[in-house]
Amino acid sequence: MSQPSPSSPRILVIHGPNLNLLGRREPEIYGRTTLDEINNRLTTLGAQLGLALDTFQSNHEGAIVDRIQQAAGVYDGLIINAAALTHTSIAIRDALATVEAPVIEVHLSNIHRREPFRHISMTAGVVTGQILGLGAAGYALALRGLAEMVRPAVTLV
Ligand code: DQA
Repeated sequence: MSQPSPSSPRILVIHGPNLNLLGRREPEIYGRTTLDEINNRLTTLGAQLGLALDTFQSNHEGAIVDRIQQAAGVYDGLIINAAALTHTSIAIRDALATVEAPVIEVHLSNIHRREPFRHISMTAGVVTGQILGLGAAGYALALRGLAEMVRPAVTLV
């Protein structure tokens, strides 16, 4: 098991609007795990995988676009749940299209089983892959997937 060092691959996790309310927001859909718990689990898993992790949450589209722009060339992989902005934001899609590093789109719920307006993802066409409907576990799986991509020599269990 490796630990992150200054030379470790860097991963940025971006959480969109209302995800700061996880744990008490529609728990029958999104579960009872809080955003802090998700971030803490990811940081611990990242350390086990030899990845350095940063997290960012915003309720504001422009702030998320700014963070994606700042990430280009700095991070080796991104995980993003743009939440409701997934379905509306061409600006976030365009920002993600400039990122050369792999990007995994995560949704706690299976957006295709829900209301028709959630079936469209503006970002789907520019990300590396998507993980949907697996709840909080989806983030950990996304991180393991990125680890395979940025540290292919590491044997994952
Ligand atoms: C979500 C799905 C979106 O439709 C919704 O607006 C969210 C969360 C998810 O993780 O399932 O806020 O991205």
